[in-house]
Amino acid sequence: MKQRVLLTGGAGYIGSHTYVALIEAGYDVLILDNFSNAARDVPTRLAEITGQSAAVVEADILDRASLDRVFADNKIDAVIHFAAFKSVAESVKKPLVYMQNNVVGLVNLMQSMDQADVRRLVFSSSATVYGNAADVPTPETASLGYGNPYGHSKLVCEQIIEQTIASDPRWSVGVLRYFNPVGAHPSGIIGEDPSGIPDNLMPYVAKVAAGQLPVLSVFGDDYPTPDGTGVRDYIHVVDLAKGHVNSLSALERDGQGHVVNLGTGRGYSVFELIATYARASNRDIPYKIAPRRDGDAASSYADPSLAKTVLGFEAEFDLFDMCRTSWVWMQTAAERAE
Ligand code: NAD
Ligand code: WQD
Repeated sequence: MKQRVLLTGGAGYIGSHTYVALIEAGYDVLILDNFSNAARDVPTRLAEITGQSAAVVEADILDRASLDRVFADNKIDAVIHFAAFKSVAESVKKPLVYMQNNVVGLVNLMQSMDQADVRRLVFSSSATVYGNAADVPTPETASLGYGNPYGHSKLVCEQIIEQTIASDPRWSVGVLRYFNPVGAHPSGIIGEDPSGIPDNLMPYVAKVAAGQLPVLSVFGDDYPTPDGTGVRDYIHVVDLAKGHVNSLSALERDGQGHVVNLGTGRGYSVFELIATYARASNRDIPYKIAPRRDGDAASSYADPSLAKTVLGFEAEFDLFDMCRTSWVWMQTAAERAE
């Protein structure tokens, strides 16, 4: 019997790529999304990639009755929980909205799962739970903290999960701390689609390369890094999606939960990313040096060794692949919009 997995936020950026990886791995998948940050045609595009129609429920994780109905109507074996708000800048302006969607949403979901006797969960966490970690590469044992309401919401979610597992050992949970997910499916059919002006570097660079934004601001060139710009562990979203399949298999195999980093273990600077994107797109990327952004660390990259031991996970794609697929996605999206 195929295992049936519920993907909350499955129409979003990481959820949609994970959907494809799960279908390819032989899972039966049900997407639950309220489309607050996803295009309506994502399910159609997923069908284009997989050759089968995507099962989707439009619902809000804040609506407990809807969640209960989904579990009553469908035999679910496991849940991967992506649904959340993710903008650091917006979270500073709207902390209560972030706590409600990210923390209350998780509590609702876990209560509904518990009631339905489904206790296998993979949770989207973030390297943001390390705060401004002093240790790079960062192992999972590094001290935890937060620098903004978004980061705080993810840390509280991790604590809620830890306390729930301690109270009831039937729970089996994989907590995945993503570093910086970028890139797109190689088909160009799905990818990251931020509305408005992007907060994050790669989508901003993509829009500058495409001529949709005039110039990139490089936030600081005086960091103690080899070229003075910030260093991050960019991970291809297709690699990240594979990490979720590995996490689910590990939970099925031994029932043991895990808390692991998903990164490549290699840091790239802002200047390296700009140069690589320019090469991958064959476009100029105009930039100017701007002041440092509040709360940014000089350097952040994962110690990826635990993911290798526990999940057999290793990232395969490099920065050029990430830029190249992002650029293919930008072009395909532009053609679709015509
Ligand atoms: P995304 O915004 O593209 O996807 C989130 C999806 O959840 C969207 O489709 C949105 O419509 C849906 N959603 C939001 N609130 C909902 C609600 N109340 N009910 C139902 N659906 C809801 O974001 P993403 O980049 O795919 O991120 C997925 C997860 O990974 C999030 O939990 C995010 O915090 C985490 N994460 C993302 C990054 C990143 O850089 N993208 C890094 C670390 C962790
Ligand atoms: C990367 C580098 C910037 C934009 C964020 C969240 C984190 C996680 C991933 C969800 C830094 C520089 C950026 C720009 C720039 N999300 N930069 N000009 O800050 O590492 O992580 O996304 O969990 O929680 O904080 O990623 O892409 O914003 O920045 O120079 O216009 O690019 O200073 O060095 P970050 P980012």
